[in-house]
Amino acid sequence: MARRILAAGNWKMNMTPAEAAAFINDNKAAFASDDVDVLFCVPAIDLPAALAAAEGTNINIGAENMYFEEKGAFTGEIAPGMLDDLGVKFVIIGHSERREYFAETDEIVNKKVLKALEHGICPVMCCGESLTQREQGVTQEWVRQQVKIGLLGVDADAVKKVVIAYEPIWAIGTGVTATSDQAEEVCGWIRALLVELYGADVAEEVRVLYGGSVNGGNAAELFAKPNIDGGLVGGASLKPSFADIIHYNK
Ligand code: 13P
Repeated sequence: MARRILAAGNWKMNMTPAEAAAFINDNKAAFASDDVDVLFCVPAIDLPAALAAAEGTNINIGAENMYFEEKGAFTGEIAPGMLDDLGVKFVIIGHSERREYFAETDEIVNKKVLKALEHGICPVMCCGESLTQREQGVTQEWVRQQVKIGLLGVDADAVKKVVIAYEPIWAIGTGVTATSDQAEEVCGWIRALLVELYGADVAEEVRVLYGGSVNGGNAAELFAKPNIDGGLVGGASLKPSFADIIHYNK
């Protein structure tokens, strides 16, 4: 079964609820697609407005983060059941910005992945090396470790719902995109790890995205690679021209 391409936006800390609704309403016709899955992961406070605006369209709305406990004294956090209650089906877990600024470890990522899956929410689990690590030649070991720990305790059935996003930190928000060969090499390593952990048939079903300065000009070359099943897009997902990424093959 061929994997469907996923064009996923990560809005990060951009767009108010009113801006989110207007953006989706204004662009929903241009974002319509029969053959590419479309997802915007938005700030938690934008979720109700974004979900309402996207209703009846092909646009999926996800969250950018959630906590791994069900409820309790965790001031400021969002529980999985809260996302579930709104009908949210995707959540980004372990973005490098959360790892860097909010001290998320692979162990925390793993707890969040397990908790999201328990609630029927598909985790978009992020991994990726820094420029220093790439220069040190440890990219493969680093990414394998991030993915392996992130997926601890995730069984073969559940892993099919996980989306893995390879985002080299040096390519995020820098305008420096990994070459399609660099991106494919690491996404291929991730696929090989999935084969080791779950077998070839299961590994074939898991979507692996590339993220880092994806835009309408480079999406086609990246998405044509055998192990790249779409993109996780930051800056370019805030603009109407995100349509060029969705329609990369037109
Ligand atoms: P940019 O597309 O802005 O480089 O951001 C990538 C990213 O971090 C998506 O999660």
